Amino acid sequence: MKLWGGRFRKEENKLMEEFNKSFDYDHILYKKDIEGSIAHVYMQVHCNLLTEEEGITIIDGLNSIQEDIYNGVIKLEGNYEDIHSFIEINLIQRVGEVGKKLHTARSRNDQVATDMRLYAKEKTISLIELISNLKKTVKIVADKNCVIMPGYTHLQRAQVVTFKHHFMAYYNMFDRDEKRLKNALEILDECPLGCGALAGTTHNIDRNITKEKLGFKRIVENYMDGVSDRDYLLELMSDFSIIMMHLSRLSEELILWSSQEFRFIEIDDLYTTGSSIMPQKKNPDGAELIRGKTGRVYGNLFGLLTVMKGLPLAYNKDMQEDKEGFFDSINTIEMCISVMEKMISTITVNEVNMKKAVSHGFLNATEVADYLVKNGVAFRDAHGIVGSIVIYCEDNDKAIDELSLDELYKFCELFKEDIYEFIDYKNILNKGIKKYIL
Ligand code: ARG
Repeated sequence: MKLWGGRFRKEENKLMEEFNKSFDYDHILYKKDIEGSIAHVYMQVHCNLLTEEEGITIIDGLNSIQEDIYNGVIKLEGNYEDIHSFIEINLIQRVGEVGKKLHTARSRNDQVATDMRLYAKEKTISLIELISNLKKTVKIVADKNCVIMPGYTHLQRAQVVTFKHHFMAYYNMFDRDEKRLKNALEILDECPLGCGALAGTTHNIDRNITKEKLGFKRIVENYMDGVSDRDYLLELMSDFSIIMMHLSRLSEELILWSSQEFRFIEIDDLYTTGSSIMPQKKNPDGAELIRGKTGRVYGNLFGLLTVMKGLPLAYNKDMQEDKEGFFDSINTIEMCISVMEKMISTITVNEVNMKKAVSHGFLNATEVADYLVKNGVAFRDAHGIVGSIVIYCEDNDKAIDELSLDELYKFCELFKEDIYEFIDYKNILNKGIKKYIL
């Protein structure tokens, strides 16, 4: 069941046949392959490569194959080299001799390039929807939890923020991710059908017909580029990697925050699992898996970058290796975004513990220095003074706002009663950048 037996004296070695096959994984392209073929037939009829009657017979045949696959009448299995061979061989069996004309003015090289672009487009459009849904949920959770919490740098308590502000940082990341996907979609929206194997075709074809029929914005200009370009997959996989990196950072925070050490949030039972031996355990497996799966999405990107780096123009069979990694990345990222969206929509934020955490760790030290600056001290000197206050507080197990005015006065005579109001956490939040987010 081959499309190319003519010039061979011997049968292909069985192991080689097995090795060469992509049907086990590229069969998921069947709808795109049929869609591409139907557009090609329209063009063939229009350009007098087929009669109208022949065109109708082939299109009916292709549609009936699609229906039969959909209804399970025929299975996507058997000893076929790839999805393209499967469809073409089935078509010939169904409609007879006329089916052999389908491949006029086409190569599997421009065919597979078209299938993959169509598939990538469809998947990217649905990913954009998933991301925008995730953004919505992030915003809802953030708005619901405008509660005070410690902000960190180096994972050390730094300055006071709100959970809302912290969470909305992710909104902004996902917003950029969405833009990147839209941008990638715009760049890849070109139709490679008609590029042939690498040098176009001597038949008088009209590439605009197939472009229009398949809903591409433009046609790929250079034939050799059209059949050997996998940039769009690399670009998407780069975007996926960045999305996974964002999801992974959020996962890491959810894991930390739900630990006994933090107890800032609780992840709902729905998205946690237990231990087979330790009865008390409630593990954040959902978040951990997202963090872990980031590795395979990066891996798939590097896999394809490496496949492509040494390939001379135009098509080389190495490129068949673009599929499994890309499909895997798509499936992984769809799942991860969906789980993350559901998981965060059910978290409970522990306002009391976050508030408690704010009172330890000198989160208002910077504002004490700002107070001195407002009273005429140079910032660098103020920084030094507050540094000494912190040492004093540590030695005496106190927070800065617990010191008396007399104690503060010993460090700087500019401290007055209004210092306490100035460094009150709520007041700090209400000033500065925070006024935009409360
Ligand atoms: N299964 C092949 C792939 O995915 C289809 C293209 C085959 N082209 C060829 N010249 N052998 O790349």
